[in-house]
Amino acid sequence: MTENCAIILAGGEGTRMNSSKPKVMAEIIFKPMIDRVIDAVKKAGINDICVVTGYKSEILEKHLDGKTKTVKQAERLGTGHAVMQAKDFIAEHKDANVIILNGDAPFIDSKTVSDALSYHLDGEFVQTVISAKTDEPFGYGRIVRDGNGNFIKIVEEASADEEIKAINEINSGAMWFKAFELSALLGKITNNNSKGEYYLTDTVEIALSEGKKVGAFTASNADAVLGANTKVQLYELNEMLRRKTLRKLMLSGVSIPCTDGVLIDDEAEIGADTVILPGTIIKRGVRIGKNCEIGPNTVLIETTVGNNCVLNSVQAEYSIVADNATIGPFVHLRPQANIGNGVHCGNFVEVKNSAIGDNTSISHLTYVGDSDVGKNVNFGCGVVTVNFNGKTKNRTVIEDNAFIGCNTNLVAPVKVGKAAYTAAGSTITEDVPENALAIARERQLNKENWVTVNKPYREKK
Ligand code: UD1
Ligand code: CA
Repeated sequence: MTENCAIILAGGEGTRMNSSKPKVMAEIIFKPMIDRVIDAVKKAGINDICVVTGYKSEILEKHLDGKTKTVKQAERLGTGHAVMQAKDFIAEHKDANVIILNGDAPFIDSKTVSDALSYHLDGEFVQTVISAKTDEPFGYGRIVRDGNGNFIKIVEEASADEEIKAINEINSGAMWFKAFELSALLGKITNNNSKGEYYLTDTVEIALSEGKKVGAFTASNADAVLGANTKVQLYELNEMLRRKTLRKLMLSGVSIPCTDGVLIDDEAEIGADTVILPGTIIKRGVRIGKNCEIGPNTVLIETTVGNNCVLNSVQAEYSIVADNATIGPFVHLRPQANIGNGVHCGNFVEVKNSAIGDNTSISHLTYVGDSDVGKNVNFGCGVVTVNFNGKTKNRTVIEDNAFIGCNTNLVAPVKVGKAAYTAAGSTITEDVPENALAIARERQLNKENWVTVNKPYREKK
């Protein structure tokens, strides 16, 4: 028995998006629609996926990067024609089931996919259409049933009369097939309709006319059908998911006193009693502990934050922040910043590819790059780790309890030993031993009466 598999239709241009990208690349809360469909399918345990590309296929190919199979539909001749392009893929799975999905319906969920499969298998259907009830059926294919409620066909909007237009059960575009039956059905679709397209939906009537069983599984998630044709509709889908995610977080104990400008990835994990303030944008791969205050105006991506932290006006990517840290305002944590417990980073501090030990304080106007910093280190204002010499990046090591004076340049590779001091304004080019004070600056010279003699200012009128 071959594995069940999925075909995702993504060839369309989405003309009304007015975009240079394929429609399925449009993002809902920072994730392309196609990725949301792929994730739902994978979460349902289906890993063999073929995406039908078309318009700007190279953009989609690059994005998918081999994560799924792809076939290209050279011209857009309809959803049935799109599926025909995957005929070899279907043949490879001939004794399994295949689900066809629209790549532009981002709210399809794994439960709908697997529940529909159970329905499909239990009913021994050759084809099971996933339908949904909606108050706004305009534009969708309508599910037509006979007087006994038996599913008889799908009629597209363009071919619908007034009676059919009034039907509020619609085709989600997702449907399960027995793969070998699908192969046979595809050969029988014609483009004999007002649009001159090969409609995948015609398979329903064809299969029924051959005496085969076709099912319609009504999804409890009515959003599973929603798609976006314009940027306005894209915004509406974003807003729906945004509100749903914020509501879920609030019900789990996260405080969001004002949702203005708050956009949070639906898979972000945030602990109870954490407060999210306006202007906070949380993208993929973020975990935040309990009792933190995040925002205002904070952007996090692929970052983990512990418990009891404050991040105020912080941009952090690919970083880790341990418990009890206070970061900000105006701090940039660049990739591989690893911030220890109780660390304070104050205004205009940038940390990159560096470990900062527990309770270290970097309060003002400082750059720490490619460095290993110990515990309880104090950075004065304006410290720079000089990590790049124009050719190579080098590391700076600062051991526990060291005190780095204001405006110190630490020219890497260099090491400041335990509890050592550097004098303010020093440019440190050699290692500083434990407990030493390094002074690397010109000794001060006072020239008595220099001003009265030289009169360097302009004469007052
Ligand atoms: C389709 C269904 C309709 C259903 C609706 C749900 C058909 C004939 N109609 O209509 O019953 O209610 O989805 O959203 O199937 N695509 C290609 N190549 C093509 C044409 C389309 O890859 O030649 C892709 C599109 O990129 C899109 C998907 O197939 O991802 C659906 O196509 P679209 O033109 O949007 O179909 P609808 O008119 O929405
Ligand atoms: Ca569509």
